[in-house]
Amino acid sequence: MRKKKRVGILTAGGDCPGLNGVIRAVAKKLIIEQNAEIIGIKDGYEGIINNKYKTLSYRDVSGILTLGGTILGTSNIANPYKYAVKEKGKLKFKDMSKKVIQNVKRLKLDCLVCIGGDGTLAIASKLAKDGIPVIGVPKTIDNDIKGTDVTFGFNSAVTIATEAIDRIHTTAESHHRVMVVEVMGRTAGWIALYAGIAGGGDIILLPEMPYDINGIAEVVKERNRRGKKFSIIVISEGAKPKGGKVVVQKMVKESTIQARLGGISFMLVDQLEKITGLGSRAVVLGHLQRGGSPTPFDRILATRLGTKAADMIKRRKFGSMVAVKGDSLKEISLQKVATGARTVPRNHSMIQAGRSVGTYFGD
Ligand code: F6P
Repeated sequence: MRKKKRVGILTAGGDCPGLNGVIRAVAKKLIIEQNAEIIGIKDGYEGIINNKYKTLSYRDVSGILTLGGTILGTSNIANPYKYAVKEKGKLKFKDMSKKVIQNVKRLKLDCLVCIGGDGTLAIASKLAKDGIPVIGVPKTIDNDIKGTDVTFGFNSAVTIATEAIDRIHTTAESHHRVMVVEVMGRTAGWIALYAGIAGGGDIILLPEMPYDINGIAEVVKERNRRGKKFSIIVISEGAKPKGGKVVVQKMVKESTIQARLGGISFMLVDQLEKITGLGSRAVVLGHLQRGGSPTPFDRILATRLGTKAADMIKRRKFGSMVAVKGDSLKEISLQKVATGARTVPRNHSMIQAGRSVGTYFGD
């Protein structure tokens, strides 16, 4: 009798809507077609380092498609190659990759599916190099993973941010205010660009295009002169003024990338009020953008990516990631992914479309 395939699944990095859809798709397809055993690794790489896991039955992965978050838990700190430990009150980083290799062997995993963003996939790429059979599935609200046109989670975040901008619109208009809505995205402005265009933002500020504060003030004043007594500014958390710096909200010492961005909107509001004399307020959407149920688009994408990943496991395409290219799904080497963020090109067609309807991009 052929031995049953055993597949481990982990979700790592910041959570986002759609993670459960991928877990469900990978597990269901492998159970239905191969009677495989599915091992859910808890809390991302933390679980594979410290042996935290649970067996997932067909029943466990049923009814989770519409659920936000991840049934497995996650961590955006645990990195097997740079694992933070406290020794005598001091923070140290240890290489725990050998332990990961041991645990993969001990659990008799034929494959480890790593669902995550660029950090998670960079680690997956290293694990692949170290001989672990891994398959990557790209996720992030930031939509900044190289090699794929889109990531699941992004559409849900844009939907949430757009709804927030719509709501801000009415209060901005009532109070004749400048309202600044800050969205996530780290070094990539995709959420700000998409939600800004969808929400009819008057000014959209991206990390990729440092802004001119006087230019922004002029646009706001000009709108005022034309009788538009309010303005909506959508700003990415990673945006910065020309010649200036990003605003770091906090440093997470245990994390591989330590800086957590946030708060640029408050700085902008203070400056704008001083220059224009107009009442201004800032709203930081923050983790709201990662919460709740995935949109239909993300549920479908998660199902497509998850079933494709299961198919890649069957064909032993280890060391690769499933990626979206136009209408189809492709397999690309994890090595190509592990090279930084995919940012918004300055000549992106949506920036051009925005400019054509009078949107100012701060440049
Ligand atoms: O990468 C996803 C993301 O939500 C970014 O947009 C944001 O900068 C970061 O994670 C926030 O991280 P944390 O959950 O650690 O605050």
